[in-house]
Amino acid sequence: MHWQTLPDYDALSNRASDILLGAIRDQPRTVLGLPTGRTPIRMYERAVAACGRAYHCFRDVVTFNLDEYVGIERTHPGSYFTFMKRHLFDFVDIDPANAHIPNGAAADVEAECARYEREIAAAGGLDLTLLGLGSNGHIAFNEPGTPFDSRTRSVTLTESTRAANASLFPDRNVPTRAITMGIATILESKSIVLLASGERKRGAIERLRSGEISEEFPASALWKHPDVTVLTA
Ligand code: GLP
Repeated sequence: MHWQTLPDYDALSNRASDILLGAIRDQPRTVLGLPTGRTPIRMYERAVAACGRAYHCFRDVVTFNLDEYVGIERTHPGSYFTFMKRHLFDFVDIDPANAHIPNGAAADVEAECARYEREIAAAGGLDLTLLGLGSNGHIAFNEPGTPFDSRTRSVTLTESTRAANASLFPDRNVPTRAITMGIATILESKSIVLLASGERKRGAIERLRSGEISEEFPASALWKHPDVTVLTA
């Protein structure tokens, strides 16, 4: 695990954006695993600005978001579909057919999870996955206690996660369930970058740094992967 401590959130966002765009430059048809949440917002802002200036970088990129809420339409203001449009997809030249997000409004949620896994495999697997970190150590929506061999499935969110994410919902009414890539799905990505910034993440980062590997602390599964970079600020 490579650790990089950046001076502040801005520097972390620049570094993350450089890694993202570097991967695309090296391989224009990169398959990305993408996060939502407050932490990656400025990374997306930087990537959008750099792409606008430099070249049409997302033309051949394929993306898979890590997760989506269940039971709301994708046009809902709190959905991760809306988030991704607002922070990235509306401003880059990605082909909408290549931008995948689980459908949380699917009539058959379990079939949707299986379909999502098949789509990732059909795209050739994830090349680079960027992750945020929950204060309780969750990655995507894999809450404490998630088996490390888990795959894309529907989960019940903890009350602490719902409270932590309430500010991203206009009515603060966060759904109780979500579809998330599993830990095994994430670990199959060729490389992984974890972003964690601010006081709220300090405890989780220290626990990750301790090297203890436990299903009670989902991010610790990353120790099992050969190419993980942790960016902290
Ligand atoms: C949500 C997302 C996670 C994200 C986490 C941290 O729970 N499902 O993928 O890592 O929030 O969010 P934030 O960056 O807002 O602290």
